[in-house]
Amino acid sequence: MKRKEFIGIVGGTTIAAGTTSYLLSDKSNFSRADIKSADDNNETLKPDEKEILFLASLAPSGHNTQPWFVQYLEPLHWIIGNDKSKWLPAVDPVQRETILSIGTFIQNLEYAADSFGYVCHWNLLAATNQDERVMEVKLIKKESKNAFDIAKIKDRRTVRSNFLSDVLKKKDLEYLVNSESEFIHYLPTTSKESQFINEQTIVANRLQSYRAPAQQELANWIRFSSEDAEKYHDGLTTASMEIAGISGWVVRNFYGKDNVMKNDFRERGIDKVEKEVSASAGWILITSKDETVATLLETGRRMQRLFLKVREKNIAIHPMTQILEESSTRQTVNQSIGISENIQFILRTGYLKTYPEPVSLRRPIDQFIRS
Ligand SMILES: Cc1cc2nc3c(=O)[nH]c(=O)nc-3n(C[C@H](O)[C@H](O)[C@H](O)COP(=O)(O)O)c2cc1C
Repeated sequence: MKRKEFIGIVGGTTIAAGTTSYLLSDKSNFSRADIKSADDNNETLKPDEKEILFLASLAPSGHNTQPWFVQYLEPLHWIIGNDKSKWLPAVDPVQRETILSIGTFIQNLEYAADSFGYVCHWNLLAATNQDERVMEVKLIKKESKNAFDIAKIKDRRTVRSNFLSDVLKKKDLEYLVNSESEFIHYLPTTSKESQFINEQTIVANRLQSYRAPAQQELANWIRFSSEDAEKYHDGLTTASMEIAGISGWVVRNFYGKDNVMKNDFRERGIDKVEKEVSASAGWILITSKDETVATLLETGRRMQRLFLKVREKNIAIHPMTQILEESSTRQTVNQSIGISENIQFILRTGYLKTYPEPVSLRRPIDQFIRS
C-alpha cells in the first residue's frame, strides 16, 4: 500500500471513530424540558395537590439543592419541612439561605394554590433555622378571583449571561419594588455603591473558590453528565450554569469533581464572574429588620414575588451571594454602601435582548413528599 493511501485510510478511520464516539457521547444536557410535569405515580395525591406541589418546587434555591420536603397529613393539609440532607454547611453554616429558599417555595405554593382556587392558612412551627418542621399549611377552597398566572412560575429562571448595561427604567423599578421600598433597594450601575458590589463580588468569589470546603461542596452539587442530572434531578448542570457549545460538551464528557478542585477551574470561574459583573443594570439588595425564622421566610417570599415579576419586563435576576458567605466581605459591606439593615439577598439585575427558557432541574414530587 502506498503511503498516501495508508494515511487516507487511517485518517478516514480516525474521523469515523471520532464521529461514532461523538454520536455516542453526552451531546445535549438533560434539562427541564426532559422532565414530565406532574408526577403520575403517586396515588395519595389529588390532581390539584400534584400540580400545586410541582409548581411550588419550581422555586429557586442555593446550588439548586431544593432543601424542602412536604409531610402529608391529610388532603390539602401538609407540613413544609427543612431537609437537613440538603444543607450547604460550607457556605451557609447557619442555614440562613436554606430558610430563604424554603420561603421562595412557600410563596410559589401560595400563588399556585391561589390559581387552583384555594387560600392557604399558614401556621409557623419552626423556632430555629434547624427545626425540621417549618410551617403547617391548610388549603381552603375559595371563590376563585384574580387567580395568579402560573405561567409566571413555570417561566421564571435565573439568568447569568448577556445582561445589557442600561439602568432600570423608573416605571419598571416602581413595578418591581411596588410598596416594598423599605426592603428592596436598587443600586444603579452608575452608582459608587454598585461599583463597590462589583468589586467585592469578585473578591468574595476568589476567596470562596480557594476555600477548599466551599469548593468541594460546589463540586458535590455539580451534575456533570446528563446521566447524573437525570439520576438526581437537582444541583447545577452545564445548561443551568450556562456553559454552552463545545465547552459544555467537554465538561459533560470529561469533567468530574476532581477538576473543580484544580486551579484552572477556579480561575475560569473567577474570570466568568468578572465578565458577569462587567455588564448589568446594577444590583438589587433585599434587606430585613431581623433574622428570625419568620422574617427569613418572609424575605424569601419577598424575593420570590419580585423574581416572578421580572420576566414580563425582560429583566434578569442573578443572585450572587458570595459577599454574604465570606466573613471578611460580609463585615464591610453594610458600612461601605450605607445600609444598616440585614442584607439577605444580593441580586445582579439587567435587561436582556432575548430571555432564555428555564433549564434547571427539579426532583419529582415522590422524592420530596413524606407520609
Ligand atoms: C438563597 C439563594 C442563593 C443563591 N445564590 C446563588 C449564587 O451565589 N450564584 C448563582 O449563580 N446563583 C445563585 N442562586 C440561584 C440558584 O442557583 C438557582 O435558583 C437554582 O440553580 C435553580 O435555578 P432557577 O432559578 O433557574 O430555577 C441562589 C438562589 C437562592 C434562592
